Amino acid sequence: MKHHIEILPSLLAADFARLGEQIALVEQAGARMLHYDVMDGRFVPNISMGIPVLESIRKVTGLWLDVHLMIVEPERHLAAFRQAGADSISVHYEACPHLHRTLGQIHELGARAGVVINPATPVHVLDEVLDLADFVLVMSVNPGYGGQKFLPSALHKVRQLDQTRRQRGLGFSIEMDGGVGLGNVGDMADAGCDWFVAGSSVFGSEDPAAAVRELHARACAGRQMLT
Ligand code: DX5
Ligand code: ZN
Repeated sequence: MKHHIEILPSLLAADFARLGEQIALVEQAGARMLHYDVMDGRFVPNISMGIPVLESIRKVTGLWLDVHLMIVEPERHLAAFRQAGADSISVHYEACPHLHRTLGQIHELGARAGVVINPATPVHVLDEVLDLADFVLVMSVNPGYGGQKFLPSALHKVRQLDQTRRQRGLGFSIEMDGGVGLGNVGDMADAGCDWFVAGSSVFGSEDPAAAVRELHARACAGRQMLT
């Protein structure tokens, strides 16, 4: 199974007063997916954006919208996020006592389903749902804030997931979120990561379009080391 490398600019780091412009900028730079962080002040300490902002974004872009739910009881809101324009929806293992059912619900809504693990959560707890997930998101920071330092322990989790998908012949993509930048994207791609969420390293840079292109180039260079 061949997986594409994607850089997903994280809108959490964008200037919310100029969201449309910022989206157009990264789209012109070749981004095909956008990452949208939802925080509820309960599962994580911070509160971010919700459904109306997603609806507005859906109206101005055809890019893939990857919605990362950092909320308790995410199953209560799946349909609303799907209706607002989510193409993929990821839920946290730590927030879902009935993860198997929740991933099924996301599929029933016609979206791609992802499962997320926090830095303290090992990969093996996902063994029984890997065949249901379209992608696995490995948090490389504790969720809740942009601009945090990358936790290198994410590397062995990506390796483990990559090995597991080969051994079991599964097709899920591997996504990484938190502290992703020019200094680590190559190694992570080499380890098997396919999708890179990048907030501050894109929108915090002087030239977000150039940042997307450079991150993509370095990730692709890292991946080629595999073959
Ligand atoms: C963190 C969010 C991330 C955040 C990443 O809880 O899930 O998506 O935007 O931001 P950076 O890339 O700045 O670490
Ligand atoms: Zn995120």
